[in-house]
Amino acid sequence: MINNFKQYLENTEFFDNTSNTVVGKYEHQDILSLEGFQKASKEITSWEEYKVTPLVSLDELAKQTGVSKLYYKNEHFRFSLKSFKALGGAYAVANLLINKLKDEGIEANSSDLLDGKYKDITSKITVSCATDGNHGKSVAWGASNFGCNCEIFIHSHVSISREKEIEKYGAIMHRIKGNYDDSVHEAARVAKEKGFFTVSDTSYEGYTEVPKDVMQGYTVMVDEALNQMDEKPTHVFLQGGVGGMAAAVASFILETYEEESPIFVMIEPTNADCLLQSAKNGEATVVHGDLDTVMAGLSCGEVSLLAWQILENKTKAFFSIPDEPIAKVMKYLANLPEPIVAGESAVAGLAGYMITQFSEEYRKILEIDENSKILFLGTEGDTDALVYEEMVGKSSSEVLKKV
Ligand SMILES: Cc1ncc(COP(=O)(O)O)c(C=O)c1O
Repeated sequence: MINNFKQYLENTEFFDNTSNTVVGKYEHQDILSLEGFQKASKEITSWEEYKVTPLVSLDELAKQTGVSKLYYKNEHFRFSLKSFKALGGAYAVANLLINKLKDEGIEANSSDLLDGKYKDITSKITVSCATDGNHGKSVAWGASNFGCNCEIFIHSHVSISREKEIEKYGAIMHRIKGNYDDSVHEAARVAKEKGFFTVSDTSYEGYTEVPKDVMQGYTVMVDEALNQMDEKPTHVFLQGGVGGMAAAVASFILETYEEESPIFVMIEPTNADCLLQSAKNGEATVVHGDLDTVMAGLSCGEVSLLAWQILENKTKAFFSIPDEPIAKVMKYLANLPEPIVAGESAVAGLAGYMITQFSEEYRKILEIDENSKILFLGTEGDTDALVYEEMVGKSSSEVLKKV
């Protein structure tokens, strides 16, 4: 199976980030911190549905690729939402409502919100955002759980099944022309006009506070993963959309391990490689076009400004990959003796890893050898059930042998 991946090497782009100073101290506690994690963890782990998601060791693939360990964090089991995004958007909605109540002199926590204790106040608030699917679902789920209204903006490439998944939580949906970044701008414009509170997973000039909460929520996933591992990872392969997930993971690990931090590698789709282009240009850079990729969650052309500050000097290499290997990795995981349901964006890091293994040069730059212990964040399950079934040839229940 692994040999199939050699053919993709020629359609990739690899950028060795020489400006990288991984061995420096983490200095962005003003954006994301272990202290912020403690606060997020306290709220999120108090939600009734909260459960640690599994960390799987891919032993056969580790053997085939000549490394010590490959760990895959399986976010298919994250609440009922099947993606790590459930941790971020929903936490930011809870925090926003808690802060609004504070303005009224009320000290509340997410349990109070879940109990509907202040529904008379929160029901007058509307949160909104743009989304590729998973973030919007998290915000809509949070709004429905914590008792406020929600309006979601999606772009022309978001599938009908992803739209329905969000609508299920009572959100009012707006489909706009254009790509993800157009939907971000439209959501911000309407929010300003109508007095909605934007809960975005990306940060931009003048809008930074809420995205910090979103990213801080994601750190719960990496804390779980490190606790589940017997040893410290030597590498972390991270897939990037706007970079929020990667920045959250990197911030937590950098602050935890300080000088002993693992090597971070960024993977993106060829058609939406804003992080790679930013690294090449030495500054946040916009990628234009329709950003079309099967990795729907990574279809972003503008980096999150805050995420970029964390990642620019801490990411060893940026690697962009085509769509073709994605279905193969999804099928590979689905057909393991202990099957894993992994969605299109979840496997990007693993696909990138499998391709890099065919370049002696990349392996050397990344310092990958028989002692490497590599962590992958399997960020979603079948969040688009139709697409999953089409790509894998069976549904997630069939994969998990539930039918
Ligand atoms: C499943 C999945 N993985 C990874 C990402 C990338 O996260 P970010 O946009 O924060 O880089 C997303 C974003 O929506 C996603 O849905």
